[in-house]
Amino acid sequence: MRRLLITLLFSFVVLTISCDAAHDGEIDMSNSNLALPPPILSGETALEQALNKRRSVRQFSNQPLNLQEIGQLLWATQGISDHDRGFRTAPSAGATYPLEVLIVVADAKELAPGLYRYHPQGHELRIMKKGDLRSTFFRAALNQSPIESAPATIVITAVHERTETRYGGRAERYVAMEAGHAAQNLSLQAVALGLGTVVIGAFDDARIAELLALHSGESPLYLIPMGRP
Ligand SMILES: Cc1cc2nc3c(=O)[nH]c(=O)nc-3n(C[C@H](O)[C@H](O)[C@H](O)COP(=O)(O)O)c2cc1C
Repeated sequence: MRRLLITLLFSFVVLTISCDAAHDGEIDMSNSNLALPPPILSGETALEQALNKRRSVRQFSNQPLNLQEIGQLLWATQGISDHDRGFRTAPSAGATYPLEVLIVVADAKELAPGLYRYHPQGHELRIMKKGDLRSTFFRAALNQSPIESAPATIVITAVHERTETRYGGRAERYVAMEAGHAAQNLSLQAVALGLGTVVIGAFDDARIAELLALHSGESPLYLIPMGRP
């Protein structure tokens, strides 16, 4: 009888866990990072063409992004381009790297909807929250429509302390400059992939920080929705 009860209890636990995973319809990555496809280091669009073509795009088609595109866009924003020294695609004052990159995914092939944090070392994503966060995100971004229609939005945040420790009062301007570098990298990479972006600076700081479960001392700087124009 005792053995039967233990077997029933065990089956119930297994069933509950698998129903939960099936309900979310996504890979359980809670304990592991998701390796992104390596960045492609050559393309067909010349830099001059990307510069000439870049325009803010605020309406996106309902086509999903794929994992290769997402990996490429994250790499362009803050990926490591010199593995010996850990230097990244965007410059950083004293290589203090105050920027962090998150991505809110709504519709992507091979990637479940949710909030992910990008880890440049290893070029990986770690899931922070599961599910489509678009409607809450849209409201926290002052109802700006690109957030609602984009299949994914990259968020650039900053931990100012990393740069303040070295540069004191000048850190604030350095960090803002770095966010500009990273956002421009992302915007041009998007054009080269046939995608569009808009950089969004107007949003409710506290609501975005709460939604993205930012660490204390980490502030949101830019929301960058992206998709197929
Ligand atoms: C710091 C900054 C903040 C911005 N914030 C917003 C924003 O909140 N919403 C938006 O739709 N566009 C925003 N933009 C995009 C500008 O409106 C856009 O770049 C400008 O109209 C010029 O158009 P273009 O990007 O197509 O050249 C922002 C741009 C910058 C540089």
